[in-house]
Amino acid sequence: MTAFETRETTPDAEEDELLAAGLARHLRERGLIWGAPVLAYASLDSTSDRLKTLARSGAPEWTAVVARAQTRGRGRQGRAWISPPGNLHVSVLLRPAVGVAAALVPLAVGVAVAETLREWGVDARLKWPNDALAGERKIAGVLVEGATGGQGLEHLVVGVGINLDWEPQSAPELAAIATSVHAVAGRAPEVAPAAAALLGHLPAWYQALVRDPRGVVVAWRERSVPWWGELVQVEAGARTLRGRLRDVGDDGALLLEADDGSLLTLLSGEVARLRPSPA
Ligand code: BTN
Repeated sequence: MTAFETRETTPDAEEDELLAAGLARHLRERGLIWGAPVLAYASLDSTSDRLKTLARSGAPEWTAVVARAQTRGRGRQGRAWISPPGNLHVSVLLRPAVGVAAALVPLAVGVAVAETLREWGVDARLKWPNDALAGERKIAGVLVEGATGGQGLEHLVVGVGINLDWEPQSAPELAAIATSVHAVAGRAPEVAPAAAALLGHLPAWYQALVRDPRGVVVAWRERSVPWWGELVQVEAGARTLRGRLRDVGDDGALLLEADDGSLLTLLSGEVARLRPSPA
């Protein structure tokens, strides 16, 4: 079944339909048969919030929600995600079978995002766990949210935001830390072909994870920021840690060498590079 759906009640129904039609065409052109519903919206509060509701009512795996803009986009660590029209906002539902290394999904998705950006001439590097950076500026982010039940993990909602046509100068407070495909490559794809590109890479890297989890860690490391051995700070919940970036384990955890030489294993957190202060 390939279903392209739009919501009848939206005030932007016509724009929703256009986006859905464009997306269907671009998926077809890529030879992709999407075997689950894809919902397309001109604007939505959050694609991940919408997908969570669908997931709870039994939506099948690989149901996808795409929006040109979000009014309440969410990022990692409870931050807001700026989501103006023309950027890419996609959420996809996964229902990992028992035995799939779900902890590595954020890394696999990061690799899929880097591969998508490469199609548009952007050599993005991944900062653990899955921020995509162009130079030192963030160009895309991934938010993976899980829901558990009596049987363990029930589903994952994978949300991806890519800055496509966004003008860094439009938000001076972000210009030093964020960028866009347009700013880096001189042009950016429209939302429909961009979404089709991402939807092409995501299943490929998820399948890679199912087949060979270690291969995904290797692929992630090959695309990572070249900060290995450097001093970083990690905000991990209420703790702020400092140490040298050593590696990413086969389980996707970050290995940080503390000042006393001990090795810390981190499962989540926000990494920032610490530069030696000039003499
Ligand atoms: C991050 O903080 O780096 C993660 C950003 C994730 C943003 C995406 S946009 C699509 C999906 N919907 C949301 O509300 N958030 C994610």
